[in-house]
Amino acid sequence: MVALSFHRALLLAGAFAHLGAAQTADSPTILSQDGSLVVADESTVAPAAEAVTDLATDEDKVLLLTDAVVANLTALGLSDIDLFAFGDDAAGLAKRSNTARVGDCKVFPGDPEWPSRLTWTVFDVLSGGALIETVPIGAVCYNNSGVYDAEKCQNVLGNWTKSALHVADPTSVMSPLYQGETCMPQKGDTGSACALGGFPSYSVRIQDVYQVQLAVNFARNKGIRLVVHNTGHDFLGKSTGAGALSIWTHNLKDIKYFESYETPSYSGPALKLGAGVQVAELYAAANKHGVTAVGGECAGVGVAGGYTAGGGHSPLSTKYGLASDQVLSIDVVLPNGRFITATETLNKDLFWALRGGGGATFGVVTSITVKAHPKMTFSGFTFNVVTGAGTKNTEQIFWDAMYAYWRRFPSFSAEGVYGYSMVFPRFDGVAGYTWAFNPFMFPGKTLAQSKALIQPLVDEWTALGFDFTPEWFEHDNFYDAWTRHFPTETVANSNMRTSSRLFPGDIWSNVTKRDAMFDTVKQIVKEGSALIQYNMNPAQRQGTPDSGANSHWRTAQWFAIMGTNWGPDATEVQLESSNRRLTDDWNGRMRPFGPGGYLNEGDVMEPDFQDAFYGSNYARLLKIKREVDPDDVFWAPTAVGSERWDVAGQRDWLTLQTGRLCKVRD
Ligand SMILES: Cc1cc2nc3c(=O)[nH]c(=O)nc-3n(C[C@H](O)[C@H](O)[C@H](O)COP(=O)(O)OP(=O)(O)OC[C@H]3O[C@@H](n4cnc5c(N)ncnc54)[C@H](O)[C@@H]3O)c2cc1C
Ligand SMILES: *[C@@H]1O[C@H](CO)[C@@H](O)[C@H](O)[C@H]1NC(C)=O
Ligand SMILES: *[C@@H]1O[C@H](CO)[C@@H](O)[C@H](O)[C@H]1NC(C)=O
Ligand SMILES: *[C@@H]1O[C@H](CO)[C@@H](O)[C@H](O)[C@H]1NC(C)=O
Ligand SMILES: *[C@@H]1O[C@H](CO)[C@@H](O)[C@H](O)[C@H]1NC(C)=O
Repeated sequence: MVALSFHRALLLAGAFAHLGAAQTADSPTILSQDGSLVVADESTVAPAAEAVTDLATDEDKVLLLTDAVVANLTALGLSDIDLFAFGDDAAGLAKRSNTARVGDCKVFPGDPEWPSRLTWTVFDVLSGGALIETVPIGAVCYNNSGVYDAEKCQNVLGNWTKSALHVADPTSVMSPLYQGETCMPQKGDTGSACALGGFPSYSVRIQDVYQVQLAVNFARNKGIRLVVHNTGHDFLGKSTGAGALSIWTHNLKDIKYFESYETPSYSGPALKLGAGVQVAELYAAANKHGVTAVGGECAGVGVAGGYTAGGGHSPLSTKYGLASDQVLSIDVVLPNGRFITATETLNKDLFWALRGGGGATFGVVTSITVKAHPKMTFSGFTFNVVTGAGTKNTEQIFWDAMYAYWRRFPSFSAEGVYGYSMVFPRFDGVAGYTWAFNPFMFPGKTLAQSKALIQPLVDEWTALGFDFTPEWFEHDNFYDAWTRHFPTETVANSNMRTSSRLFPGDIWSNVTKRDAMFDTVKQIVKEGSALIQYNMNPAQRQGTPDSGANSHWRTAQWFAIMGTNWGPDATEVQLESSNRRLTDDWNGRMRPFGPGGYLNEGDVMEPDFQDAFYGSNYARLLKIKREVDPDDVFWAPTAVGSERWDVAGQRDWLTLQTGRLCKVRD
């Protein structure tokens, strides 16, 4: 163990006792060595951390909050230091200081228990200046916000649908619906005020593990709502929350390559990824090292954040399983503030739960180590078909062509397929659809092999008179296939909501049931739903340790995302009917065929989310949740164990993150 420039705090922090005496002041002061009062800030007080050798790699140093650091701070009489204490005693037994009763709410701004400005400043100083008071991303467009800036506003407006804009901001979310569409930059000139809405009050910009520990301990000891925010891609509002302290993991960007990495069940190359690494960064690193990594389709999604925590589907999922199946080791800060590593042999329950059991539930993951697979060939096609007036594709031909494709899902999966396509009503308002493949691809196959597999479908399409022009491709590596044949993500449309279903393979062996399922989905698309569909089967592979990932994924052949949208000026009545149609009507009709849904791309109002999002693993996941987080330091809508709390003031057909979080049952 190496003490890290902590001596500055030791020399100076004795005078933090003054903090207690001066609770109304904005700046804490400390006694300097010569006895004069100086402002406590980054230049006078060192971060509350010591450098410890990382268990997983045995060489890297991690900056940790330890018992020794807390003891030093306590001995110095630093004001409010108890707020940073761990949630267990030296013997590892849980201290239950903040057990909420039914009716209690997390401490909210304005409550007498809400930390004073001075206390927040102490937090800021101890975290090395990492605390950020929330300024909504759209505030630069509001001339009454105090930060109005016409040029920055233009940048925000011009880049609004690009994920990079939101990822770079500590609190912006790409489904603004859930923050209550507050302070939307597009409405900056309406004369309204820029309110905080469902945004958290503060964020901590994480660069080292000790900052996560400080935030977790502080939120737990104070009874404040805690949010974990990585890129803000979440579709259910899980990375924002009113009155919360938010842990912003985006800047944990380390990537480390291991040529050979050994676990009881794996031997081969691996990559260690900081919690903030995004899909494009993972793929670039894998390409550089001549290997293939498992990640999502879109460049901006955070690999080690919500994506892998929730399972994570990938162009390689039929071949190698879910993203969570690739994980070999996980570094995580637990609800009690302790930093641990979970592997096949260490902290086994957590290793099981953290792989697929959902984000923001068991702790804050700071890094994961994942398998890297050999470089291989990728081939397939993309196409973009339009139907209806002005095309040869009549409605009948289109649906016949779609059924011809749907019928073949199990046979394509048997060959490792990634079939990703989107069906939307025509964008020009003319009756008909657009159907775009982005792409239909076989990992590990040459173009000749892929063409041979697809030929029977192509023949049937041709016989039906279906007018399509596939653009075939072949690359000797994943990176080129991904950079050239996948769509660019567009985000931040607040007038829509999505849901999803996982349709199991056994339906295909009963033609009556299969066709009834096809008819149901077809009818729902005809009623106006978007259909974003994936033909894939992320089965549990032999040799992969069992995990908490949704059991419904394992048998799925078809992952279908449905979407409802409404106009910008929709009335409350229209909003309600659009949202209820998605949850109750469309999903209600599809659930008998596909009881499962994907928690990362699911309906936040899913009635039996426990079964839909976690399947047969829910009971064990809940048991582990109650053990590691008995007081629900971590909470997110539809997360394991979330049923004990509700966000106040919500309509019963849509939960936003705009109110207090209150305990509703034991
Ligand atoms: C354009 C787009 C494309 C997508 N493509 C795919 C895809 O191909 N495959 C797929 O499976 N999914 C895909 N998704 C869904 C994606 O997996 C989820 O949105 C996922 O939650 C994103 O994780 P994040 O960490 O980037 O986002 P965030 O919104 O920041 O976080 C999501 C959730 O994870 C929690 N979380 C984040 N980091 C941590 C951490 N370090 N420790 C603990 N909890 C954490 C958050 O609290 C929140 O609950 C896509 C989403 C979008 C918007
Ligand atoms: C705690 O303080 C002592 C001096 O009082 C110092 O030697 C030690 O390194 C400190 N511990 C840590 C973890 O910083
Ligand atoms: C997007 O933001 C960048 C700066 O981040 C800016 O240079 C660019 O002009 C913006 N684009 C638009 C269309 O406003
Ligand atoms: C702010 O914008 C509103 C709405 O456009 C306008 O009425 C008002 O005059 C502006 N105020 C200032 C100080 O520019
Ligand atoms: C096939 O599905 C139908 C409709 O769900 C059902 O009634 C029938 O019993 C099933 N047939 C078999 C052989 O399982």
